[in-house]
Amino acid sequence: MKPDIIGGIPQQRIAEIFDAECASYATLHPRSMQLAGHGIAGYYQGVPMHWMRDWSMPYPFVVESARGAVLHDVDGNDYADFCLGDTGSMFGHSPPPVAEAIARQASRGLTYMLPTADTIAVGRLLAERFGLPQWQVATTATDANRFALRVARAITGRPRILVFNGCYHGTVDETFVRLVGGRAVHRPGLLGQAADLTPLARIVEFNDLPALTAELAHGDVACVIAEPVMTNSCMVLPEPGFHAGLRRLTRAAGTLLLIDETHTISTGPGGYTRAHGLEPDLFVVGKPIAGGVPASVWGFTDEVARRLDEVRAATPAGHSGMGTTLSANALAIAAMRATLEHVMTDEAYAHMDALAARLADGLTGIVRNYGLSWHVVRVGARVEFVCAPGPLRNGSEAEAAHAPALEQAIHLALLNRGCLIAPFHNMMLVSPATSAGQVDTLCAAFEGVVASLALDLATWQ
Ligand SMILES: Cc1ncc(COP(=O)(O)O)c(C=O)c1O
Repeated sequence: MKPDIIGGIPQQRIAEIFDAECASYATLHPRSMQLAGHGIAGYYQGVPMHWMRDWSMPYPFVVESARGAVLHDVDGNDYADFCLGDTGSMFGHSPPPVAEAIARQASRGLTYMLPTADTIAVGRLLAERFGLPQWQVATTATDANRFALRVARAITGRPRILVFNGCYHGTVDETFVRLVGGRAVHRPGLLGQAADLTPLARIVEFNDLPALTAELAHGDVACVIAEPVMTNSCMVLPEPGFHAGLRRLTRAAGTLLLIDETHTISTGPGGYTRAHGLEPDLFVVGKPIAGGVPASVWGFTDEVARRLDEVRAATPAGHSGMGTTLSANALAIAAMRATLEHVMTDEAYAHMDALAARLADGLTGIVRNYGLSWHVVRVGARVEFVCAPGPLRNGSEAEAAHAPALEQAIHLALLNRGCLIAPFHNMMLVSPATSAGQVDTLCAAFEGVVASLALDLATWQ
């Protein structure tokens, strides 16, 4: 009987390797087992945030410290960290200018809901870097997206938000939909939803300009929210002309365009937007913008600001539904200033880009050598291997390209060889602190895993 095959690899081989790697993991992590193996007391599901259960390892290891691109656990293991807090630490753990700024601010008050001298500098830095004149600071990218979408609805007077199938923009209600059989449905797994989200959604596949044209023609879409490259399933690049078409069609329909750069800030110092001359009305970036201290920013054009002023003038005083108490606190702003001035530099990006290219080339060569029909995709410092042929064109293809059991085995095997990659997809980030040696270690580890997965492949076929 022909064996079940996942990503070109027999399922039985994947299971054998996963079991062996679980055993190695247990040997390497006895102390973590004591501390967290049966769940950490006091926490639902044994962790302070349930996503910490979503890694490939049988139980999480406990981190002792992290610096630059190295993570150290309580069992004495060091990891070359290519996950980097799933982008929160994209510029390395505790970059010295950020650590110094935090230390400086720590004794001067952490939050007072008033601006500081750093606030004044940050306003100028954001405008210069990202090319938009009006900014607000929030605490997470989720919040920033939520507030920006609220503005879009308020100033257009339109109810709907259009998303691309397969998107993720944080836990933002409007984006928790999927396209099934040509219709919007709730994203699988969504819990506790009070209202049906689908009447306020429009959803099309990425790279599908005819479908976008048709959905915008209803005239009821306030805003399209998009990552410039879809990064939250297997990575999907925009096809030539897609972004120009997206901008042209949204303008023609009177619909605002929100570009969410939270992950694609890997592209360059001004994100994909600056690198490719995009012209969003609204712009969001979170996660690493303050070097790992919780903070996000959302920017917009003078035209959006003018329309917002008009709407506010016509609205009775009260609560706008935007903002949170700790947003733009003094600590976050100090860390953001240090990040913008000293960490997100052209030199840092040049280093990240060169090593990410080295990583992508290395992985591509290995995939080819072993005759696997996988592919590798990259946007700046962000690299991903996909255990399926590419390029992928949209969210449906990206979803279908996932191979969870195979990915889990590879992740765990890499971890046991000292390399940490992101848990949710096969994503690897290169930071300014990452070394060529770490990249080569990851390539060697990947080759080792692939060699064992592909061993005797011909005899299975
Ligand atoms: C593109 C994008 N936007 C927004 C978010 C939300 O970020 P946060 O969880 O920090 O709110 C994410 C998280 O992964 C993301 O990938």
